[in-house]
Amino acid sequence: MIKTILVIGSGQMGAGIAQTAITHGIPTFLTDADPEQRESGRNGIATRLNRQVEKGQINVSDRDQALARLTMVQSIRDVSAVDLVIEAIVEREDVKRTVFEAADEWFPPSTILASNTSSIAITRLANATRRPNRFIGMHFMNPVPVMALVEVIRGALTDAETVAEVIETAKVMGKTPVEAQDYPGFLANRILMPMINEAIFALQEGVGTPEGIDTVMKLGMNHPMGPLALADFIGLDTCLFIMQVLYDGFGDPKYRPAPLLKKMVDAGLFGKKSGRGFYSY
Ligand code: CAA
Ligand code: NAD
Repeated sequence: MIKTILVIGSGQMGAGIAQTAITHGIPTFLTDADPEQRESGRNGIATRLNRQVEKGQINVSDRDQALARLTMVQSIRDVSAVDLVIEAIVEREDVKRTVFEAADEWFPPSTILASNTSSIAITRLANATRRPNRFIGMHFMNPVPVMALVEVIRGALTDAETVAEVIETAKVMGKTPVEAQDYPGFLANRILMPMINEAIFALQEGVGTPEGIDTVMKLGMNHPMGPLALADFIGLDTCLFIMQVLYDGFGDPKYRPAPLLKKMVDAGLFGKKSGRGFYSY
């Protein structure tokens, strides 16, 4: 039974995961390497809870109790014990491995280490630790407080008890878990990301405008957001990384990232988080 969580990375996903945990009664530590991100992560949670109070979705006491369950820490070494670590840092394998090596060293073998990675192989990340049996993928969707799904990815050596505890925790957090095997892109991004990439190819080839492409998918297929707006929302750097994982993992040219996507990432146009992507924010 998971009683406490540490979330590493307080960007859009980490802050959303921590918010969801504390509003479902789980005491949670939240950290980030960047002090400004720690500050904005915590402020974002408070702002969203205040908005829920204004909308009458929760009362002031619910908000205060939730915030009292949140502890911001500078480093994992400020946390003496925790049942589950959820890593939600930048989608780079080398950086994630370093973070997991440190967590593996610091926390007892019983602590479950989970990654919110969008696409990096869970079995390979687990290999950075001495506890591949207690290592798992726990893939939340963005925005975390709103989206009901958690993809649960079992690495080659993840044990059944770890899977069961993580599925149970996802349910306690109000989510619906779905199991996926450790294959490139798992399930969610293997299906979603090629659609986004194809929309970028269509834009690059001048088949339509960004607004036109997004309107086709919104009004024609009832998607809540068009694929280009969604790419901006996810982060173009993250989208490119996921396409590269699919391309490398399957060796199939159908997954080649659109050159326009690469060019935009090279230019620092990461979407909503950097202020400009296919649209300006
Ligand atoms: N954080 C927390 N809550 C948010 C939020 C955010 N960033 N953005 C919106 N919300 C909440 C709002 O507060 C609102 O809540 P209430 O209904 O309780 O008041 C609700 O979401 C709806 O918001 P809005 O009315 O402002 O806007 P909307 O109706 O257009 O919905 C949306 C916004 C939920 C983001 C919707 O456009 C949507 O579902 N988009 C698609 C999102 C999606 O596909 N996510 C998956 C991305 S892929 C992924 O995550 C995996 C990966 O590895 C890349
Ligand atoms: P983000 O850029 O908003 O946040 C990443 C955070 O990680 C930043 O605050 C950064 O300071 C921090 N960080 C970087 N290196 C660190 C380190 N060594 N130690 C501690 N903190 C560190 O990114 P995000 O969109 O929140 O994505 C985070 C993870 O979640 C990625 O693996 C991504 O693939 C995955 N994910 C993203 C989405 C999405 O839609 N954006 C959806 C599901 C999963």
